[in-house]
Amino acid sequence: MLSMIKANTQDIEKEYLFQRDIPEDENGFLNEWHNCTFEDFRAVILPKMMANSIGEQLPDGYVPQTFYFVWEDDAIVGQVHIRHYLCESLVNGSGHIGYYIAPGFRGRGLGTKMLALAVRKASKIVPEDEIYLQVNKDNPASLKCMLNNGGYIHHEDGIHYLVRIKKLREGDYGDKD
Ligand SMILES: CC(C)(COP(=O)(O)OP(=O)(O)OC[C@H]1O[C@@H](n2cnc3c(N)ncnc32)[C@H](O)[C@@H]1OP(=O)(O)O)[C@@H](O)C(=O)NCCC(=O)NCCS
Repeated sequence: MLSMIKANTQDIEKEYLFQRDIPEDENGFLNEWHNCTFEDFRAVILPKMMANSIGEQLPDGYVPQTFYFVWEDDAIVGQVHIRHYLCESLVNGSGHIGYYIAPGFRGRGLGTKMLALAVRKASKIVPEDEIYLQVNKDNPASLKCMLNNGGYIHHEDGIHYLVRIKKLREGDYGDKD
């Protein structure tokens, strides 16, 4: 079973190994902490991830962002970032949600399921009526995850599709949290 769990100190060993191994930039999914040390992760990075979700330790102009690790049973398989509301750069850029599945777990439908969980979570957080997403035109797997979740291409530029997904209504969350 797949679940999204906020970055937390209890799971630090598995979170560290996962974060260290995410590439610096894969299709626009960014990890400034690629190859970090455990000590940096413990003392600086994980506290920062947790602070960002309550609007603290953010660079100027950044909106609050929650980091989730995505678990399949007791293994971390992915990561989701949810930005709590839009600013101008997010409207025309990466939108509300960023997501990543580790290479060894791809091609099994987890990306699609993870985005479904992320849309459900974001529907409770963001004030806008639609979830905004951006995908590189040369990333068909990610575009497919979006389309599988009811996404539609709102517009495009030279290298991206700007996709939107209607937010779920309260009665459609399908869970208690
Ligand atoms: C994008 C990503 C999340 C997809 O994860 P995944 O677990 O492989 O996704 P799924 O297994 O749900 O596959 C999604 C669909 O893409 C399709 N797909 C995979 N590779 C494809 C390709 N090269 N061309 C076309 N379709 C492709 C799959 O067949 C599947 O289609 P289906 O639902 O019709 O069966 C993963 O590749 C990833 O994390 N990439 C790096 C980071 C990234 O790109 N993040 C998104 C930035 S917008």
